[in-house]
Amino acid sequence: MDVAEAIRKRQSIRAYEDKPISEEKLNRVLEAARLAPSASNRQSWKFIVVKDAQRRRELAMAASGQSFVGEAPVIIAAVATEPKSIMTCGVPRYAVDLAIAIEHMVLAAVEEGLGTCWIGAFSQERVKEILRVPETYQVVTVLPLGFPRHVGGTKVRKSLQEIICYETLTE
Ligand SMILES: Cc1cc2nc3c(=O)[nH]c(=O)nc-3n(C[C@H](O)[C@H](O)[C@H](O)COP(=O)(O)O)c2cc1C
Repeated sequence: MDVAEAIRKRQSIRAYEDKPISEEKLNRVLEAARLAPSASNRQSWKFIVVKDAQRRRELAMAASGQSFVGEAPVIIAAVATEPKSIMTCGVPRYAVDLAIAIEHMVLAAVEEGLGTCWIGAFSQERVKEILRVPETYQVVTVLPLGFPRHVGGTKVRKSLQEIICYETLTE
């Protein structure tokens, strides 16, 4: 599968089959995060792989009760270990670094026939407690990973005309 196809096929999956993921598939997804670029190549991140059913249920509760999160056989929590650093451009480094690494995993998952759903609705405090993450770190997402139960639906997106301008910003 090429990148363009993975981008086209990717969609947020909110229903998962009760079927385990092989270590080979999981490792290829994790390897995609490892290879991601980061500012100054600092790689200030940890990825916590959660398989334990009870812990997955707790994470789903912490994610505003979105039960599908706990139904996925694996949840990958993406954690920034140096969340204070701001780039020269004024943008927090960790948010960019982690977003890239997570999207690498999301697209690699598509190639493996797996689905994901980026989760932003979760309690930072509660997830840190469940996963024993230090207060000074920042959890960026808890990403469910599993075989999709429902696929389909069309992408609702703005047109290129609405989002692209040339040379300077125009409304
Ligand atoms: C930063 C971010 C946070 C999100 N948080 C949630 C979430 O908590 N729950 C959820 O069901 N979907 C969440 N989504 C998924 C979006 O709703 C979804 O990407 C968007 O509607 C487009 O649909 P698609 O991913 O199927 O193309 C999130 C997506 C992003 C990028």
